[in-house]
Formats: sequence, C-alpha cells, structure tokens
Amino acid sequence: MAISPEWLKKPKDLNHVDAALWPANLHRSSHGEFEIGGIGVTDLGAQFGTPLYVIDQDDFFARATRVKNALSAAAESIGTSAKVYYAGKALLTTEVASWIAELGLNLDVASGGELAAALAGGVEPARIGLHGNNKSLSEIGRAVAAGVGAIVIDSEIELERIASTAQAQGRVQPVRLRVNAGVHAHTHEFLATAREDQKFGLARADVPRLVERIRAEKHLKFLGLHSHIGSQIFEAAGFIEAAKRLLAIQAELLKFGDVTELNLGGGFGINYTTADEAPDIESIALKIAEGVAAECAQLGIEVPVLAFEPGRIIVGPTGVTLYTVGTIKDVALSEEGAGAVRKYVSIDGGMSDNARPSLYDAAYTVRLASRSSSAAPALVRVVGKHCESGDIVVRDDYLPADISNNDIVAVAATGAYCSSLSSNYNMLTRPPVVAISQGQARLIVRGETEADLFARDVRYQELLNSQPLNGKD
Ligand SMILES: Cc1ncc(COP(=O)(O)O)c(C=O)c1O
Repeated sequence: MAISPEWLKKPKDLNHVDAALWPANLHRSSHGEFEIGGIGVTDLGAQFGTPLYVIDQDDFFARATRVKNALSAAAESIGTSAKVYYAGKALLTTEVASWIAELGLNLDVASGGELAAALAGGVEPARIGLHGNNKSLSEIGRAVAAGVGAIVIDSEIELERIASTAQAQGRVQPVRLRVNAGVHAHTHEFLATAREDQKFGLARADVPRLVERIRAEKHLKFLGLHSHIGSQIFEAAGFIEAAKRLLAIQAELLKFGDVTELNLGGGFGINYTTADEAPDIESIALKIAEGVAAECAQLGIEVPVLAFEPGRIIVGPTGVTLYTVGTIKDVALSEEGAGAVRKYVSIDGGMSDNARPSLYDAAYTVRLASRSSSAAPALVRVVGKHCESGDIVVRDDYLPADISNNDIVAVAATGAYCSSLSSNYNMLTRPPVVAISQGQARLIVRGETEADLFARDVRYQELLNSQPLNGKD
C-alpha cells in the first residue's frame, strides 16, 4: 500500500549526497560518515552534543557572494545597480553579522534585538535597514541614533514617529515606504488582488499622500518604495507584477521629486527536497531586471536602483541539523490497508529547533549521517520529543531500514528560519550553532543549559540566592 506522497520518489541510493540539497562542503567519507569541511558528524556530536545546528561557513560566503554578484549583474545589465540586504531574520548572530560586514553586504533587521546584533557584529549603520510593522518608539530611537541607512515605514503613525524622533535627535533619517502591492507569491504561483489581506504595508492608494508628507518633513529623506511578496518563490512573475504596480506609482511620484530606488524584498526559493527545483539566482534575477526595465521603458521613467532582501537563499542550504536517534516504532496504518507501516523515528530535538514543519507544513530531507548502510529504504517520519502529535521534523522521507538507536541523522537546508525560530517549548534547551570553515569547527552560539532555562524564573533565582554557598552560612 502506498503511503508515501506522490512527490517523494524512493531513492536509488540512500548513501548518495545530492549536491542540490546539502552544503557544498558536506561529503560522505570513505568510511561512510557525513563530513562537513572534513569534520565527521560523530566528532561534532561528541564535541558539541546533539541536536546541533552546523553552518558550512565557506558555503555561506560563496552563496552570499554569488547572490550579491547575480543581483548586481542583473541590475547592471539594465543600466542600474543593486543594493543587497541579507535578511537577518533567517539567521542572525553577531558572528553572522560580522560575515555580512566582511562580505560588504547590507543587512535587514526587524527588531531592536536584531539591530543590536548587527551593530555588535560590526555592520556599518549606513548599511542597515530596519523593518517591522509595529516598531516601538525605543526601536525607532535606537535606529535613528545609530544612523541606520534606511527605516522602512509601515504605517502613517510610524511616519510621524520617525519624523519626530529624527527631529528630536537633529538628524535626517532616510526612509522607504512599504507598500501592500496586492501580490502574494509562493513557489510557482502568485496571487494578484486589489490588496492582499495582511498586516504589512500601506495601501497603494495612500502612497502619493504619504510620500508628499515624507517629502515635506525636513528630517526625513525619501528613498523609494518597498514590497515583499512572500517566500520560497521559484518564479520571477510575482516579483515583476509587484514591480509593475509599484513603478506605476513611482512614475507619478517622480513628477514631484526624486525616487532613487525600488526595493523588491526577499523570498527567493531553495531546494528542501528532491521535488524542489529552485532556479539559479542568476536566471531569476535577470528576468526580474528585464521585467523592471521593460516597465520603466513603458512608463518613460529612469530605471531605479534595485534593492533586494534575500535571506533563505543565502543561509538556508548552508545549514544542517544533526540529531541522535532514540525511539523507533513501526506503526501499522490500518486505514491504509493490510501491511501498511510507517516507521516513526524519534530524535532528540523537534519542533523547538525546527518549527517550520508544524508552522508551515514545510517538507525536509533526512539522511543517515553517522554511517552508510546497504539496508533497503524504509519510509519514515522523523518526529521530535515534544508533547504534540504535530511535532514532526520530516514528515515523509526514506532512511535505511536498519536505522537504529544512537545513529546520527542529518536534516538538510536548516540554515534559515530554524535557529532563529527556535523555542524552549517543554523546557528543552536550544541547540548550539557551530560554524565550520577551513576544516575548523567553531562554536558561534553555545547551547543553552538548564541554568539558562531558569535565568528568568524569579522564584528559582530567589531560591538560588537564598541557598548557603558551598554548604556554609
Ligand atoms: C520584508 C522581508 N524581507 C525579506 C525577507 C526574507 O525572505 P527570504 O528569507 O525568504 O528571502 C522577509 C521574510 O519574511 C521579509 O519579511
């Protein structure tokens, strides 16, 4: 009885490492184990414990450079330039911020905390853009004081708050205006409406009036319009539709002043499973640029600087999560007919270190990483250790039928939106993050300890402080 989804093909060789899914420097060694930058997963597990987020730092640098070059080349091909912001929400630590600074990329942050990480990582304030649909006054104050290069205005009240903050600080704050373009894209389709039903951005009809207000404010400098249409996008069409809608407004705005740039957000898709065929960034970037150029020609306006905010496409494929296998259960699926069995493989993490399957039904790929195996493929569901039946890390994939307790498995493409979305649900400690470069593994975020879990628990701290130290009064 077939219980695997239609998209999932039984792999011919479960030991094979598919370069389209795994970090560039991950290989299976001659003795069968996954190595990342030459370091075996068994050693990584022994040194840092599991669950463990591992980032192939050399791949991160290569991917970030490729994305930046591809977007810049596409912009140059239509006579303009590109500003590329790494979307910090995908994965941000001060170490990652320092890589962004070293790479000469810009950084998009979405909270005071992300701003603090960016600054501590040495990113030049002028290269930082601040997002958010409900920025606090304190976040606005910190961003203006730091001299961030752009704040993306998401509402009229925010326009007023940023203007008065900049005035109080005697600064001129560059701003963009986030527009609800009415385009929502995911993978192959996009939906175009009058206005998308969501919390971000301003209605297109309100934009001319708000830009007039920005232009009238001595302490604000208008850079241009912004739209972000979704995530995990494989096609250029949605970006082009959003660009058309924004450029039509831009043509009107240009009659009364400068509009130097157009920010089309992030959302470029990656491969999570063998069913995904994400396009090369070069080809999608070129299509978007050509769409923008054609629309500008049609409207008779100059091609603006193009800004983008890619997150997932830079960091996602560079990360893997290592888990140790615990309980394994063969569950008979009576409704599927006689003989239908699903192998439930429990690992030592779960929805607290990867919320995407439970949040978005996201699909992932898992492989046995601590050894190779010649056993037949068994359809598995990799589940976590939380008290939720929806605590699934990999809903459907194959592992060798001899998968057993204490094996280490690796889940691919967990660099984006896993560590950054992690939680302490069920009082699990959040895993460490290790970066591997030039054959060296370095801890960039240590794992949480039980003491960390209780650090904010007032009663626990009171008890701790009232205990006699070392048994003496
Ligand atoms: C405004 C904005 N820009 C950029 C991104 C990054 O998207 P991605 O990581 O899919 O490229 C997001 C993600 O939610 C976003 O909301």
